[in-house]
Amino acid sequence: METPFVFGKIATDKNFTDREQETACLVQNFKSLINTIIISPRRWGKSSLVNKAANLAMEQDDKLRICHIDLFNVRSEENFYALLAKKIISATSSRWEEAVENAKKFFSRLVPKITIGADPANEVSIDFDWEDVKHNPDEVLDLAERIAKEKGIKIVVCVDEFQNMAEFSEPDYFQKKLRSHWQLHQHVAYCLYGSKRHMMMEVFTNSSKPFYKFGNLMFLGKIETSCLVAFFNCRFADTGKSITDAASHLIAELTDNHPYYAQQLAQLSWLRTKDECTVEIVREAHAALVEQLSLLFVTITEALTTQQLNYMKALLAGEKSITSTEVMHRYHISSATSISRSKSALVKNDILDNQAGVYSFQDPIYAYWLKTQYFAE
Ligand SMILES: Nc1ncnc2c1ncn2[C@@H]1O[C@H](COP(=O)(O)OP(=O)(O)O)[C@@H](O)[C@H]1O
Ligand SMILES: [Mg+2]
Repeated sequence: METPFVFGKIATDKNFTDREQETACLVQNFKSLINTIIISPRRWGKSSLVNKAANLAMEQDDKLRICHIDLFNVRSEENFYALLAKKIISATSSRWEEAVENAKKFFSRLVPKITIGADPANEVSIDFDWEDVKHNPDEVLDLAERIAKEKGIKIVVCVDEFQNMAEFSEPDYFQKKLRSHWQLHQHVAYCLYGSKRHMMMEVFTNSSKPFYKFGNLMFLGKIETSCLVAFFNCRFADTGKSITDAASHLIAELTDNHPYYAQQLAQLSWLRTKDECTVEIVREAHAALVEQLSLLFVTITEALTTQQLNYMKALLAGEKSITSTEVMHRYHISSATSISRSKSALVKNDILDNQAGVYSFQDPIYAYWLKTQYFAE
């Protein structure tokens, strides 16, 4: 039997819960070509949300095409241009012959090198001579606008892990170039999202950066307990099992409403359930999850400095004024400077999340492991 929960893949249909307001807002922005920026830590549901909104928006508006680009693996400007051109062309062509035709038609100064894969239905790859693109990036950067105008369509370009652009060789210069083209587009909008909150914030909210005020900012939160509880009930019922209200609430609580972990713990609990899932089963599943991840947690923890660990210990203990002399002394923290150094290093390493000055652990299971095992020893 197929298991009723999904994690590590895009959540769709029955696996997608909550986010009604965000979905409606994003669909509206897509249809009205309003630029949107989405920020949240990884595994909170950005890709799933964008995917859902994109499908809905295209259903509602047959002139709309949405193209998805993931910068996860893209490390240079050159790779970016090739990917952008390829994705825009495939999102706006219905057959590969048309894709090849478009690739030829919409470039005049650049000469695209087109390769057709073994399965031409979905694999047309486009490459350029890098020296040419360096001197004429305009044709790639304005490609979507030119195709949209010519075909009488609207295009939304979604770019995932956008913060990776900060690692290109001349990030500010490159971003200036992008923005100067993209802001002139009348038939194209951009949805830019990413997981590194500090880097995304730097790109989009620092007034000296090129992408400052580029579009609507959306901070994606976790999933509401009430939605999770209803969702668990539903998915258990769909498979002929049930879950008690207390057990559902416990899953939400133990995972701190983290979308990915909520589905994973629900899955582990479901697997252990014959008829009705109880609090005891959830606790057992949770212990197994912590156990399963503990090796990974050891590796993460070994890479941290003693000062960082001391600060984390104080944070986990719920200390309110960590910078007070008494607390610093108790946790062997050397100085207030050490605290701020630890904070920024931990945020940079994606261990902590900084929401307007409030620091919290990104991974609720890691926080639990630290508290109950690592620091408890
Ligand atoms: N709306 C949702 N409803 C239920 N589960 C979700 C939802 N969004 C995300 N998830 C869970 O979180 C996981 C990660 O989602 P994903 O969209 O890939 O996050 P991100 O792109 O922010 O890293 C999914 O595999 C799924 O288990
Ligand atoms: Mg994603």
